[in-house]
Amino acid sequence: MRRVRVRVVDQHSVARNVCRLWIEAESPVSWTPGQFFHIRVGEGTEHVLRRPISLCEAADDRRFALVYRVIGAGTRWLADRRPGEPLDVLGPLGKGFPLHSGDRRALLVGGGVGVPPLVQLARELRRQGTAVISVVGFREAADVMLVEELAARGQVRVVTEDGSAGTRGRVTDALTNDVVDGADRFYACGPTPMLRALQERLGRRMPGYVSLEERMGCGIGVCMGCAHLCRTPDGGTAYRRVCTDGPVFPVEEVVFS
Ligand SMILES: Cc1cc2nc3c(=O)[nH]c(=O)nc-3n(C[C@H](O)[C@H](O)[C@H](O)COP(=O)(O)OP(=O)(O)OC[C@H]3O[C@@H](n4cnc5c(N)ncnc54)[C@H](O)[C@@H]3O)c2cc1C
Ligand code: FES
Repeated sequence: MRRVRVRVVDQHSVARNVCRLWIEAESPVSWTPGQFFHIRVGEGTEHVLRRPISLCEAADDRRFALVYRVIGAGTRWLADRRPGEPLDVLGPLGKGFPLHSGDRRALLVGGGVGVPPLVQLARELRRQGTAVISVVGFREAADVMLVEELAARGQVRVVTEDGSAGTRGRVTDALTNDVVDGADRFYACGPTPMLRALQERLGRRMPGYVSLEERMGCGIGVCMGCAHLCRTPDGGTAYRRVCTDGPVFPVEEVVFS
């Protein structure tokens, strides 16, 4: 278990009900894109479970940005934190996105608050010389976020369900041949229906990774609260822990019910 002492450096809104929180760890930590922090919320015992939030950007090995949607009591508490305040954090936890240095082009696909972990991934891919094209989908214009950050690392296509920004539709509608052809691999994070659709649409065309979201308890592999059904090499299935075996899995391993 990696407990890290961190302080809030900055916090502001980046889209409707979405905050970017910069934190600074007291000492350096190692990280990979796609890992997450497990954050204790509340002052007393009213919230027993920590909240998992992905690493969005790493300025170095001490300063990290987390981008999260305010949806319930825990994220509301987090949104009220101010610069200088301490946070009780475990992490970064889990297995992030593997990088393949020989790839010439990678396709990144994100939906809603699945977009944040793709930002640091895009940076790392560019750093190793892999061209990046990102397709990101949101409900409407007010929800669009992190497009500039992704555009600094490659091409970006924005899709909204109502057409108020980018093109109208869902991310899968934007996976036209000019976007998909030539990609060596895809990386995706977003709602389960989107990941299921990507498994069907892209899974046979190229290797890929999906980052799963499950409700979490301990975050460190003990409680099995985050178990997700996966395929095993012998042709069977078994439950795997999203917190420690994932959250990122090779797309062909995941069983979507
Ligand atoms: C590996 C991982 C990475 C994540 N990264 C991000 C991120 O970068 N940005 C972001 O906005 N959200 C992210 N989420 C979802 C985020 O954890 C939930 O939105 C958050 O926990 C909600 O807490 P709450 O107290 O505000 O909501 P409540 O609904 O009050 O939460 C009640 C309980 O349900 C859990 N819960 C609720 N929704 C989710 C959910 N979608 N996934 C998992 N647990 C949930 C909470 O952790 C809490 O234990 C991630 C989830 C996982 C599993
Ligand atoms: S959250 Fe406890 S095992 Fe994953």
